[in-house]
Amino acid sequence: MSLANSCALLLLFFLTLSLFITCSTAANTIGVTHTTVAVAADNVPLPKKVATFLPSDISPPTEKYWYSRLPNTPLPKALRYLLQPGHYPSINREFANENVSAAVILRAYRTTYRISNKRDDKKSLNSALPDSTIFYQYDDLHPGKKMKVLFTESGTKVSFLPRQVAESIPFSSDKVPEILKYFKLEVNSKEAQVIREEIGGCEEPNMEGEEKYCATSLESLIDFSVERLGQNVRVLSTEAGKKQEYTVSAAVRMIGDHKAAVCHKMRYPYAVHYCHVIADTEVDEVPLVGADGTKVKAVTVCHLNTSAWSPDHMAFQVLKIKPGPAVCHFLDSDTLVWVPKKDKKMTP
Ligand SMILES: *[C@@H]1O[C@H](CO)[C@@H](O)[C@H](O)[C@H]1NC(C)=O
Ligand SMILES: *[C@@H]1O[C@H](CO)[C@@H](O)[C@H](O)[C@H]1NC(C)=O
Repeated sequence: MSLANSCALLLLFFLTLSLFITCSTAANTIGVTHTTVAVAADNVPLPKKVATFLPSDISPPTEKYWYSRLPNTPLPKALRYLLQPGHYPSINREFANENVSAAVILRAYRTTYRISNKRDDKKSLNSALPDSTIFYQYDDLHPGKKMKVLFTESGTKVSFLPRQVAESIPFSSDKVPEILKYFKLEVNSKEAQVIREEIGGCEEPNMEGEEKYCATSLESLIDFSVERLGQNVRVLSTEAGKKQEYTVSAAVRMIGDHKAAVCHKMRYPYAVHYCHVIADTEVDEVPLVGADGTKVKAVTVCHLNTSAWSPDHMAFQVLKIKPGPAVCHFLDSDTLVWVPKKDKKMTP
């Protein structure tokens, strides 16, 4: 190719690029929801957007805050999703239709020693996962053990709001009418019901030895966990995978100490996480190989002392045991687990 030809091509390229930028900027300025393309590798359907409520002069949160507090910890994939620029600014209305099984499992995890007396939960949990392993006992997993596992994800992706905006929106049971008004949601809608349930969960009293916090922004999520576990941490999540039979391929590996913060993504119009630090907890990594050859490193949490849990807890029903022994469970791929790093000396 001659030099002239190359230059012409290059020029054409830049012209096209600037045209593209001009178009997108114009679309942004007049507030048109333009089509966004998900990062190909992530392959996640973008949520339907509703009109934005956000001031246009406040920029979206980025991974900068993460690296300013946690310079040595890679940003977990589960959070990278929520920071995809294509998602901002958007408020998501599909949060209430979230993948039922994921939402139900999440709630099952959260109702640790509280009784999950919602019969619907049990029913949908059973029908969604008739033959899947969620709960297991401490010594159940050894290399060669086979089980069916479904690594769910919530199905909808929402974005973090800038902290400033998130903190200006009320987040408490007595302010639900205001919240509904803010998002233009009907009082009797399914969305309203979900919002009430989720906020209610945040306001329930802590269990013994538990500390919890509902983080309404990326910054508050990071602050909570850094205050509890310091800056020398690993943050893990399980990669989503299809439901199939998996075989434990190597020994289960304990990660960190008997201290962990677990943050579950909530069903909410923007990214809110229910984080808790639970005493007597062990985080394990379980290496699995699927029937189709897929390798998954599943993150699991073991509650080492369940003697104070309700005998009606789903875990005991599934395992057919009484409260007391260590109970472990798999985590869905939207859940973040923070553990102190113990392999390296603390950096000063
Ligand atoms: C629910 O999650 C599973 C596993 O991630 C996925 O295969 C399925 O399509 C989801 N369903 C909906 C309705 O999003
Ligand atoms: C387990 O928890 C119960 C009640 O919270 C407590 O009485 C007991 O001492 C604990 N057991 C161990 C081994 O820590």
